[in-house]
Amino acid sequence: MRSPVLNVVANAALKAARGLIRDFGEVEQLQVSVKGPGDFVSTADLRAERTLRTELTRARPGYGLLFEEAGAAPGSDPRHRWIVDPLDGTTNFLHGIPHFSISIALERDGEIVAGVVYEPTRDEMFAAEKGLGAYVNDRRLRVSARRQLSESVIGTGMPFGPRAGQTGYVETLEAIMRATSGVRRMGSAALDLAYVAAGRYDGFWEFGLAPWDIAAGILLIREAGGYVSDMAGGHDMMTTGDVLAANDHLHLPLARLIKEAMRAGRDAR
Ligand code: IPD
Ligand code: CA
Ligand code: CA
Repeated sequence: MRSPVLNVVANAALKAARGLIRDFGEVEQLQVSVKGPGDFVSTADLRAERTLRTELTRARPGYGLLFEEAGAAPGSDPRHRWIVDPLDGTTNFLHGIPHFSISIALERDGEIVAGVVYEPTRDEMFAAEKGLGAYVNDRRLRVSARRQLSESVIGTGMPFGPRAGQTGYVETLEAIMRATSGVRRMGSAALDLAYVAAGRYDGFWEFGLAPWDIAAGILLIREAGGYVSDMAGGHDMMTTGDVLAANDHLHLPLARLIKEAMRAGRDAR
């Protein structure tokens, strides 16, 4: 049984996902055309955002909004705000790779109290409410119990384009590659965090994410018994965009590895 607010969020996600799935089918066709699916994808993205906006605003008219495409819009209710990424994993979507998601979080008085990450192609609804646990569809989620870094699989997001040379990322990647069973870069930060909550990844790190990439995922991990911080071990993820998530055993060793790798990188430059 979902709470009323999670029902609202889940139904909005399902409705937007129907459009995304239809458009994804189209992208698979456009993929092989010379023009490519670029413009089409931004239309799909905007359409999903409109659906979410309509559904969430209809159910909770006064709430403020922070949407990736439309930006911020204050509501008449200053306590509540939706934080939404209508399509996380755009590059995957654009290339016909079936790994993308919708991320919706509800913030109350500056704190995330409900979050959903929905993956349309596998029909996986990751949902959490503060104090009430995290679920995928109807199954309770728990972070992994692994204690050894050497046995762990860690997710990440790699900077690209102008951010590619971002100070320190490559050093952190090498350190974590050496210390673990392997690193995954699957292309949707919201789903990466949901995968930590589900115990599929033992941890995750990325620099420079946006609030809509991480708001729902942070709650999923906390409610699944995991630990999320910024790279300094503090709680400024939503402002710095830097995220390190893991179970309680692996968080500190990962934080140390990252810190040392960044320091070594700085010293070498
Ligand atoms: C991106 C994805 C990706 C992450 C990028 C994000 P978008 O979001 O979450 O995994 O590495 O930093 O910008 O653009 O697909 O919504
Ligand atoms: Ca995103
Ligand atoms: Ca997006």
